[in-house]
Amino acid sequence: MSLFFGKKRSFLFLFLGLLSFGSCETIQTFLGNKEKTTELSPSIPQIQGASLKRDRYELIGREFMIATDHPLASQAGVEVWKQGGNVVDVFAAASFAISVLRPQSTGLLGGGFAIVYLPKKGKWAYDFRERSPKKGIASFYTKPDGSADTEKISKGPFSAGVPGNVQGILKIQKQHGKLPITDVIAPAMRYAKNGFAVYADLANVISKVWPNMNPSMQKVFGIDNRPIREGELLVQNDLFQTLSRIAEKEEKEWIDGETTRLVTEYYKEFDSFISEEDWKEYQVKQMEPLSSSVWGYQMLTMPPPSSGVHLITLMLLKAEMAKRQSFPKGQVGEMIQITEAMRVAYRDRAELGGDPNFTEVPVAKLISFPYIQEEVNEIEKKVVSGNWKPIQKPIEPKDSYNTTHISVMDKEGNAVSSTQSINGIFGAIQMVPGTGLVLNNTMDDFSIAPGVPNLYGLVGSNANAIAPGKTPLSSMSPTILLEPNGNTKLVIGAPGGSHIPTSIFNTLYHYLIQKRNLYESVSFPRIHHQYQPDTLFLDPELKGTFPETELPFYQVQYGRHRAKVFVVSKEGDKLIGVSDPKGEGVPLGF
Ligand code: DON
Repeated sequence: MSLFFGKKRSFLFLFLGLLSFGSCETIQTFLGNKEKTTELSPSIPQIQGASLKRDRYELIGREFMIATDHPLASQAGVEVWKQGGNVVDVFAAASFAISVLRPQSTGLLGGGFAIVYLPKKGKWAYDFRERSPKKGIASFYTKPDGSADTEKISKGPFSAGVPGNVQGILKIQKQHGKLPITDVIAPAMRYAKNGFAVYADLANVISKVWPNMNPSMQKVFGIDNRPIREGELLVQNDLFQTLSRIAEKEEKEWIDGETTRLVTEYYKEFDSFISEEDWKEYQVKQMEPLSSSVWGYQMLTMPPPSSGVHLITLMLLKAEMAKRQSFPKGQVGEMIQITEAMRVAYRDRAELGGDPNFTEVPVAKLISFPYIQEEVNEIEKKVVSGNWKPIQKPIEPKDSYNTTHISVMDKEGNAVSSTQSINGIFGAIQMVPGTGLVLNNTMDDFSIAPGVPNLYGLVGSNANAIAPGKTPLSSMSPTILLEPNGNTKLVIGAPGGSHIPTSIFNTLYHYLIQKRNLYESVSFPRIHHQYQPDTLFLDPELKGTFPETELPFYQVQYGRHRAKVFVVSKEGDKLIGVSDPKGEGVPLGF
């Protein structure tokens, strides 16, 4: 196959070559024409170096586009597309590949959500997130003195939920894919077997987490008993064997195969916290996407326990505020409107969010016109009176760059948006011996006790309390936007814990409301408020933009927004892909 790349992209080719030198992978892709870089609004400084990065992180094509957080994951998608696969095969290939390439972020012992839109066939939402095992009950995480054992729920074997990624990806591919699963898993198997060059972010987190890794994990992520370094070749032989067994036995491998045996064996030492029964009873949930008309588009997103509903509320609140003359206007006005909309949406999340099979989440109400009006009336009273104060000192959420997102679209508008995770950096920081797989620590996404924040500083209520078989509340919000005529407009999603919904909001706000181009919209400095802590988090570039005197009622904290957005948008006959410039990925397509 031939290699085509534009002049500006030759460095990308070099970069991809470096990343994959060990596996001798060749990147074969057709790269589209580039648009000229336009300047960001002069009133708000852009993220340093953002325009320089644009050539790497944005791509324009016409046929097909994928945006992920590793060049070789995007390449896995291109590879199966060229073999005659469709967007679902592309999603599945990229999902298996990214689990090899970003073991700190996701993996086959994790879980996720996906929205699939195939205009001629239909639309689906899939929940293949982790579930609490039968032994997962609140008292299990309570210390003898009655306090919450936040260590136990966020690290080690008892922090893992029953995983769903493998069943989810296989089910979706079986329902809608075209290629045999062996072709779809092939790139991931190659990356595991031949290895790939360790990139900076991976090397950093390996060295950080190294002392906490169990021996099997140190063996995979170490050389000569020390953490593997940037540029060295990471070969994952056990993971290759696990992928080979999945390719051969498909979901049977997850029902009574060797992986099931190895996981059950591992847990014997830990009270059989995840039992064979938990494992075998796991079911992927398939449903209609949550759908709502927002900002002139039909939005398809993930129903609870995802945060898609709160993202819709947030967007509807902002739209309603924009209509009212009483709200302050201009840059400061926009900031106030957005912050207050975020505060309400995240309050709803904290108070009502949870697994709908266990708690009633009033989805229809939260996105209804009367509710939006009522909430905006309340905000209006507060803003107009000016009588409000920050109530808490800011809390620095723990640093966590993980989870991943895949956005795919073709020229017919077939699209997949999927966010997948093992939750924290390297999840439970435990590898199940013999599998090459890292356990998730998604039990931490439950509310361990009312008011006790999780890894992302999020609090929850009883609605998200731990219970056997229950799915923890999630910020992951894979989303697809349709034009009013049903044509696909945009596929978007992000990793980033509590920052996920606000990253999607910020991007859509700049793209659809402020009419910036897609790359600028992803890289534009972001605003974040998550109800608690009662703090307005701003990207550092916004420092000085809003004089303190104009935002007297907020406790402001400057720091980098944690989420990384992966998006594909259709503009006329062009497909534009952007992988967040904070990450390692690239969009690929032609
Ligand atoms: O589902 C959730 O909300 C979390 N497990 C997502 C974690 C995440 O995005 C971490 N990224 N920084």
